[in-house]
Amino acid sequence: MFDELKKVMTGRRSIRKYLDREIPRPVLEEVIETALWAPSGMNRQDWEIVVVSGKKRDDLAHLVAKTKKHVVPLLEKLFPEKIIKISLQVFENFGGAPTVLLVYVPREIPRVDPDMSEMELYHAEFKRFNRILSASALVQNILLAAHAKGLGTCWMTGPKYVEKEINQLLGMEDKELVAIIPIGYPSQSPPAPPRKPNVVKWLSE
Ligand SMILES: Cc1cc2nc3c(=O)[nH]c(=O)nc-3n(C[C@H](O)[C@H](O)[C@H](O)COP(=O)(O)O)c2cc1C
Repeated sequence: MFDELKKVMTGRRSIRKYLDREIPRPVLEEVIETALWAPSGMNRQDWEIVVVSGKKRDDLAHLVAKTKKHVVPLLEKLFPEKIIKISLQVFENFGGAPTVLLVYVPREIPRVDPDMSEMELYHAEFKRFNRILSASALVQNILLAAHAKGLGTCWMTGPKYVEKEINQLLGMEDKELVAIIPIGYPSQSPPAPPRKPNVVKWLSE
């Protein structure tokens, strides 16, 4: 069992170009239902998944394409031009993905001020912190389940720059957007970006 799981976890890549091929509804349903077994803080499960295809998906793609101008300066600080070009593929029409999943949590943004004590700050942020972490576990489950079904995905937060417009388009105005996930059959198999070494600290005494 571990070897299979390891294959799925290490073989998953962010896919930014997709085939023009619909995902059969039962396949998508199975991916989503399986992913919903993610853990959640206090078992609240207060997440929501919106599945978008057809005209709404096209309208969403237009909004997301507008975020390139915000994302490019961030990418330029980190990556060479070639990598930036590859990253931007998914901001253009979702790289051709036929369907897009959006993961939401209830919108409740805490007010924090610099004079708060550590405890007050923790208390104020506790709910949102747990909700976003739980939704992130759900997102990762979606990516892994999709990959195991031969589907590609790309976890996107760049489009947060136009969250207000996205939420209006989808009728999700009282929700906070955690991730946008284009999903479809991959038309590329990108190399794995290397993982950073020395990020684990072992303490035994
Ligand atoms: C929280 C989060 C936000 C991300 N946002 C974007 C994004 O907006 N656009 C994008 O192309 N990739 C995005 N990614 C994908 C990362 O670039 C990708 O996971 C990383 O480069 C490692 O590549 P891999 O997923 O193929 O292993 C995001 C990933 C995470 C976890």
